Amino acid sequence: MPVPLENAPHHVAIIMDGNGRWAKQRGLPRIEGHRRGVETVRTVTFAARDLGVRMLTLYAFSIENWKRPQDEVGALMGLLEYYLRKELETFVRDRVRFRAIGRTEELPTGVQQLLRTTTEETRHFSDYTLVLALNYGARTEVVDAARAYAAAVAAGKEKLNDGSWATFSRYLYTADMPDPDLVIRTSGETRMSNFLLMQAAYAEFYFTPVQWPDFTKADLAAAIADFNRRERRFGLTSEQLGPVKTVAK
Ligand code: FPP
Repeated sequence: MPVPLENAPHHVAIIMDGNGRWAKQRGLPRIEGHRRGVETVRTVTFAARDLGVRMLTLYAFSIENWKRPQDEVGALMGLLEYYLRKELETFVRDRVRFRAIGRTEELPTGVQQLLRTTTEETRHFSDYTLVLALNYGARTEVVDAARAYAAAVAAGKEKLNDGSWATFSRYLYTADMPDPDLVIRTSGETRMSNFLLMQAAYAEFYFTPVQWPDFTKADLAAAIADFNRRERRFGLTSEQLGPVKTVAK
């Protein structure tokens, strides 16, 4: 389904779900589902850009994912390392800015080093950004932001009575990122699972039964086409919006 590029959501965020079930249905180990999931990450990164998206955030590892069996956690970290090593060259060649959000300082040191290098070597690109949420949890993010904000108040850098979202949100991991316009979750689940809870306040949601390893460019295009049929009111009435169905944030 072709989507006019000018109508694409600026920022799409995806909860990549269903790797385990995809593998189980085929009698394969769960890790095989994750491996296939990484291939989908590659495809979707470039599909999103082709469809006019400017920023793509992928929920790759949640704070809660540490509770999975140790061998699965180890395999996911191994895949992440493999992915980052392999993709750096592609990001540089194709001008993809890369960044990570989450408590990245708690990830294995090898992964942290790769994250630093990939972020640093792609930081001057501006047309398209890929964000990986890693060791991410929205509640932890708010706690971290509150702590940083309190420290800034104590140091006299912020005034406590300012109290605006514009000020506080500068302490979130996503400080210099626009909010997501569209949040997609694959695999038929309809939960947020602690993903970008603050930033998705006015996002549109799209749920698809397709499991992440099977998710294609056509599925992404369908999600974007659906997004384009929605009226985003940001708390206003339809009449207030008038013929232009969008409001500056
Ligand atoms: C959910 O599938 C997926 C995850 C735990 C995170 C997504 C991870 C990847 C796509 C692979 C690693 C990513 C990168 C960028 C290297 P699930 O295991 O929860 O599936 P299930 O609900 O069917 O069990």
